[in-house]
Amino acid sequence: MKKKISILGSTGSIGVNSLEVIKTAPETFEVAALAAGYNTHLLLEQIQKFHPRLVSVATETLAEDIREQFPSIEVLWGEKGLKEVATYSESNFVISALVGAKGIEPTLAAISSQKEVALANKEVLVAAGELVMEEVQRQHVQLLPIDSEHSAIFQVLEQKNRENLKKITLTASGGPFLNRALETFSHITPEEALRHPKWKMGNRISIDSATLMNKGFEVIEAHWLFGVSPSEIEVVIHPESIIHSTVSYRDGNMLACLSVPDMKAPIAYALSYPRRMATEVVSLDLTKIKTLTFEEPDFKKFPLLAVAFEALKKGGVFPCLLNAADEVAVEAFLKRRILFTQIPIVIEKTLSSYSESFPLSLEGILEADQWARKKTKELF
Ligand SMILES: NC(=O)c1ccc[n+]([C@@H]2O[C@H](COP(=O)([O-])OP(=O)(O)OC[C@H]3O[C@@H](n4cnc5c(N)ncnc54)[C@H](OP(=O)(O)O)[C@@H]3O)[C@@H](O)[C@H]2O)c1
Repeated sequence: MKKKISILGSTGSIGVNSLEVIKTAPETFEVAALAAGYNTHLLLEQIQKFHPRLVSVATETLAEDIREQFPSIEVLWGEKGLKEVATYSESNFVISALVGAKGIEPTLAAISSQKEVALANKEVLVAAGELVMEEVQRQHVQLLPIDSEHSAIFQVLEQKNRENLKKITLTASGGPFLNRALETFSHITPEEALRHPKWKMGNRISIDSATLMNKGFEVIEAHWLFGVSPSEIEVVIHPESIIHSTVSYRDGNMLACLSVPDMKAPIAYALSYPRRMATEVVSLDLTKIKTLTFEEPDFKKFPLLAVAFEALKKGGVFPCLLNAADEVAVEAFLKRRILFTQIPIVIEKTLSSYSESFPLSLEGILEADQWARKKTKELF
């Protein structure tokens, strides 16, 4: 059966890479619906190339502009538009590639309407992991990881040997400041922090990679996707980004997944699962890799990694608070309102001032998210 695809976040880095993969197999994939935010220039190009029947943008004005140019397609906007794209009756597969907590409701809606979901928007699992996984079980749908580390684990985790799993190891490139002296961190500019050495990504994940918050989020994401406890997850710095993650078994064997750092590889795996498809991703030439290096993360330089482990252990809405506080802090840093070194400080202050008791329902999570945003904004 042809996969009829809705993409949430089609104009972002993951959205664009997904469309690159989709266009190589028109006999297998069809684009049914696209949701973007403000980049209507790119969305218009995507409409011309992929002919979706439904699109959504961030605002009503942008929607009117698109309607004028494409009167034959349905154009929606805002949160309602995102949900309609996620639950569109003519699609059976949803790529969740928005950024941040705004992806929670549309992603949950896609699962509730029994779509197969490929998830890049990790903040959905960070903030609402329990709810999402409960809904996945209830609806018997497949939730496929796009994050390269989780795709790697998904590919080498043997379900039949689940009880023999010892640990999973998430590798991390270390970001742009791996070898920079801690004493100079307060001088880091947004431009420097956005310059990731290995991956070309959206702004939020680029800054989160520079602080290692992204790796902390991935720890939480792995917990929910694979049912592993915090003590079964380790993080290892691997600057070459060739080994995307590993799974260790009790018999001493460790399975790893390797590829050049190109998001099209994990995207193609999610799109074609349980089969594999040909892609334009270049194969690794092992004879050309001179060295692969590994080191322990420096928790002093990158305290947010430890904060993420702590939030996961505390459970409840703590990971949701962590995501919301980080979202606000990253935006403030990009607008030069706080220093790079203040990002962990304001996040930790927000978490330590939490004395509410929001329930783990969707409403509770959205309230906790709002509470943390407000609290963090009060700190600068
Ligand atoms: N990039 C990677 O290599 C990578 C790897 C692993 C995981 N991830 C995860 O994948 C997710 C997406 O990352 P990304 O790098 O692709 O981010 P990105 O480039 O910033 O793209 C974000 C997408 O969300 C859309 N969006 C933003 N605000 C919106 C709004 N209010 N309404 C509707 N759409 C909105 C953007 O639309 P406009 O641009 O049109 O405004 C864009 O299409 C993140 O959760 C990230 O952690 C990314």
